[in-house]
Amino acid sequence: RAPEPATLVIFGATGDLARRKLLPAVFGLWQDGLLGSAFNIVGVGRQAMTDEQFKDFAIEALKTSKETDTPQPGNLEKFRDLLYYEYGDFGGDEVYDLVRRQLDEAEEAHGGRKNALFYLSTPPSLFEPISNGLGRLGLHRQDEGWRRLVIEKPFGRDLASARELNDAIHTVWDESQVYRIDHYLGKETVQNLMAIRFGNAIFEPLWNRGYVDHVQITAAEDLGLEGRAGYYEEAGVVRDMLQNHLMQLFALTAMEAPAAFDADAIRDEKTKVLRAVRAIPVERVAEVAVRGQYGPGVVDGEKVPGYREEPNVKPDSPTPTYVAVKLEVDNWRWQGVPFFLRSGKRLPKKVTEIAVVFKRAPLGIFPGGLERNVLAFRIQPDEGVSLKFSSKMPGQEMVLREVVMDFRYDAFGAQLESPYSRLLLDAMLGDATLFPREDEVDRAWQIVSGILEAWDAASPRHQPAPEFPNYDSGTWGPAAADELMGEGRRWRRL
Ligand code: BG6
Repeated sequence: RAPEPATLVIFGATGDLARRKLLPAVFGLWQDGLLGSAFNIVGVGRQAMTDEQFKDFAIEALKTSKETDTPQPGNLEKFRDLLYYEYGDFGGDEVYDLVRRQLDEAEEAHGGRKNALFYLSTPPSLFEPISNGLGRLGLHRQDEGWRRLVIEKPFGRDLASARELNDAIHTVWDESQVYRIDHYLGKETVQNLMAIRFGNAIFEPLWNRGYVDHVQITAAEDLGLEGRAGYYEEAGVVRDMLQNHLMQLFALTAMEAPAAFDADAIRDEKTKVLRAVRAIPVERVAEVAVRGQYGPGVVDGEKVPGYREEPNVKPDSPTPTYVAVKLEVDNWRWQGVPFFLRSGKRLPKKVTEIAVVFKRAPLGIFPGGLERNVLAFRIQPDEGVSLKFSSKMPGQEMVLREVVMDFRYDAFGAQLESPYSRLLLDAMLGDATLFPREDEVDRAWQIVSGILEAWDAASPRHQPAPEFPNYDSGTWGPAAADELMGEGRRWRRL
């Protein structure tokens, strides 16, 4: 799998994401020989900088990022030669003209066609101006080579703005040229969820309301704001994690088997199951969703400040940093099987998992209660899959205990690929399987829009928040999240 000769154009190339994730990912792919020899990178920004300054910036970024693969001798210097920089006002034409010249030069240097991947790693307010600017100069046209647009999250801030953004982008680009990033889909273990579900016959017969009691999807983080108050105060956990990452994990867990492993077959099925999720009207939000905000506490043995004490956060900020929600799916497979999704910052540890919790055995013939079997997909860390079931303990008595059968991803002995490398390479190859399509994103916004409306202090149908902060840093979130699950069910202790 090697892409055709191409230029990667990164808008926002001196930003945080480019520095921490994109440049290391590109370097790794290039060093592994996956980008071919005819490849270069044009950084584009608003900030004036020479090529040399940008090259210095990029090499420094590679040296300091934890995600950079160890460079082979001489490779940083060679990679440096592939980098160029252009700058200008994104509202004008000049900067796009400079980009066009870069594509001309790349073609002269490498031969071949003027293929280009435009990566928008900028604040969302610039997505539309850049897309339009590229369109004005005809850089979206594919007569001289393929042209693709990669868009970072957040894709809109609610349903209406996501639709506006989609419409604006479609005035220039065909949907087949658009690659919306959700980096969770680039994670090996998220792809493995599909592999396990659809590459084996033993799970499918159990994967439905006949056998499954409920499903829990958790994306817990021990980190706090990490200096991102400007963004997070606006976003909050629903936009930051629930609408995108958790909804994608949900869709992959709940969808029907696609007829083929290709972009449209998979995205059709994801959209279909997202459509089957019961909408949450504003009036029902209090019943099915719980919000929280962290106070001070102790995480990993260290004292940490509360959300409202973080730099640049308003002292009375209403922004939620924790969400738990119960989704109900109206289709034959899942009728009556709740899906519980939760995510929060400053929880005791970083852990993402999907747990399918099965019904109890119908009859207890042994002393003691019956436990539920659990099939858990550990997305990160300690990637793997485990199955929990009851077993007899050695001895005279018939005493049962829960045991765990564990598959660990490190059994493969290979290092896991970074999600950004995978997604960048797929976009260069024109494979959109791991990129959410317009209709999926739209539906995910529809599902969370009642929650956003109810929790948004500026909305006329706002429902006042509980007293914030309502959980201490280093704990598993507000107590109300436990009540959400109802009788006889509880969140897994991870
Ligand atoms: C990002 C969010 O999309 O995902 C962050 O903006 C969050 O707030 C991050 O920390 C989590 O990603 P990962 O890959 O570390 O689980």
